[in-house]
Amino acid sequence: MPATAASLTSYDVIVLGAGAAGLFCAGEAARRGRTVLALDHATKIGEKIRISGGGRCNFTNIHTSPANFLSENPKFCVSALSGFTPQGFIDRIDAADIAWHEKKLGQLFCDGSANQIVTMLTDGLAANGAGLRTGVSIEAVRRDESGFVVETDEGRYRAASLVVATGGKSIPKIGATGAGYKIAADFGLPVIEPRPALVPLTFAGADKEMASALAGVSIDASVTTEALKPTPKGARKSAKPPSFRDGFLFTHRGLSGPSILQISSYWREGAALSVDLAPTCDVFTELRTKRSDNGRMGLAAALSDTMPKRLAATIADHENWRGNLADRSDKALTAIAKRVHGWRVTPVGTEGYRTAEVTAGGVDTRTLNSKTMEAKSVPGLYFIGEVVDVTGWLGGYNFQWAWASAYAAAQAV
Ligand code: FDA
Repeated sequence: MPATAASLTSYDVIVLGAGAAGLFCAGEAARRGRTVLALDHATKIGEKIRISGGGRCNFTNIHTSPANFLSENPKFCVSALSGFTPQGFIDRIDAADIAWHEKKLGQLFCDGSANQIVTMLTDGLAANGAGLRTGVSIEAVRRDESGFVVETDEGRYRAASLVVATGGKSIPKIGATGAGYKIAADFGLPVIEPRPALVPLTFAGADKEMASALAGVSIDASVTTEALKPTPKGARKSAKPPSFRDGFLFTHRGLSGPSILQISSYWREGAALSVDLAPTCDVFTELRTKRSDNGRMGLAAALSDTMPKRLAATIADHENWRGNLADRSDKALTAIAKRVHGWRVTPVGTEGYRTAEVTAGGVDTRTLNSKTMEAKSVPGLYFIGEVVDVTGWLGGYNFQWAWASAYAAAQAV
């Protein structure tokens, strides 16, 4: 959609960033009769919506609850999530005649294309008279006695309320800048250090060689990580991260797949992962049965009924296995089963913002009003969406946070 002309220079509300949260907030605020202008430096807006969910946009999750989000302040998201629920967004999708389906675990996707959601959101702006300027460089943001002043390469805009919806740092090549963190800092608001999340993890040395040799092997696994939390004095224990059971993939540089993306949001440098490589079977019982049925079987052959042959062979290699099952005691089989069900490995890093689906951390929610997203110390300044320290699990939760936080702010501006 072409950008609409900014006919005014002074608005009730300026929204910085026309992504998921910004577009929805601008449309909803305009619907309430506010004069609104959304500004984005990208020429093509809503790119993350377009590429999300493999082009079909996993636009919400019907099981959304505060437990599906990470934040230094876990209760912050409760009010916004209950004020605008997944059903609230489904109602919008239905009203726009966009067909959708549930894929798995409450994840809702468009039947057709994610473009339909971008169109629905931009139509919402146009129908309610909100302005949209794209390809605009934001040079400075400040506050004076009459409100907020946004200096851009096409001139100066003013507004009584300023909503920052510039997202995180993930995928810089489609416009992510992290500009919102700077705006927060300029207004004296603390920012929880941003970090890549929902991102593949990487190995070094022997672990990397092993992963590389297994690249392409994909299994169902259950993964968790140690509870480490960085502090100025170093790592300390924090709440125990959950376990995620889902697809698990070896890559040339480390690990990926949904279970790894999920746990990556909780992983901290130095923390080990614990991986159950065979969550559906009791490996000890399996090995003992095979030992009595066919004692001449080796470990790789015995494990290859439960996992891909290449992985079974690598485990046998790592165990330095020689000989037959019949030569091993129950104690030895128990030790192997323990390692298969609790493989411990320590990544050295992540694939970074280049591939991370989201950015964890962000504007410290202790400085925001949870009902309105307004900065407590700067009346009229709002932060919504991914720029805020609220990060959802994989599965539609991040868009639900974008819609819910946008809706909360739109009712208040
Ligand atoms: P978003 O990033 O959408 O928008 C920010 C906007 O601000 C952009 O338009 C950007 O151009 C603009 N901007 C940035 N800096 C600026 C500056 N200096 N000046 C002006 N404008 C500026 N989530 C989910 O729930 N389901 C899914 O299926 C997926 N899939 C998915 C796939 C991939 C590949 C990625 C990268 C991400 C997802 N996500 C997802 C996550 C989801 O896309 C993300 O959480 C939301 O888009 C966040 O919405 P925001 O509006 O906060 O930021």
